[in-house]
Amino acid sequence: MRFLAAILAALVLAAPVSAAAADGDIKKGKKVFRKCKACHVVDKEQNRIGPHLVGIIGRKAGVVEGFKYSAALMAKAGEGLEWTDENFLKFMTKPKEFMPGTKMAFAGLKKEDQRVNLLAYIKSLAPKAAE
Ligand code: HEC
Repeated sequence: MRFLAAILAALVLAAPVSAAAADGDIKKGKKVFRKCKACHVVDKEQNRIGPHLVGIIGRKAGVVEGFKYSAALMAKAGEGLEWTDENFLKFMTKPKEFMPGTKMAFAGLKKEDQRVNLLAYIKSLAPKAAE
């Protein structure tokens, strides 16, 4: 019984961390997205300097039609890279470190809350058809 209690306690302690990560602020995230707007559209399937980001979270990397990705991105895509929450957050931290050779000319978002809020905003716009 004491063992079970310890597991329960661990679960309760672990919960707030993941909840915080999932609870990004959509409004703040929309502001963060201004940094991406020069190159990306997220609410329409329209490519600019970068590929459109409609439905990007949970999708395979490098699959937007009509966009010419870098060899670096296509190599990662070939290895099976998917834009999970985790990979997206890592890419946003330092794009060129996560993907050396990417042609995305963006230094990254230093603050974790900016990255988490941005993720919440992008997810809030994702097509819901699959649900
Ligand atoms: C200066 C232009 C530019 C800015 C600013 C920029 N990106 Fe990009 N982004 C690109 C380009 C170009 C690519 C394609 C990269 C490649 O092929 O290596 C890309 C690729 C991506 C991908 C991978 C898409 C896919 O289909 O696999 C994601 C995700 C992404 N960008 C998100 C963002 C977000 C979010 C921001 C803002 C924080 C941002 N980008 C800022 C130009 C930019």
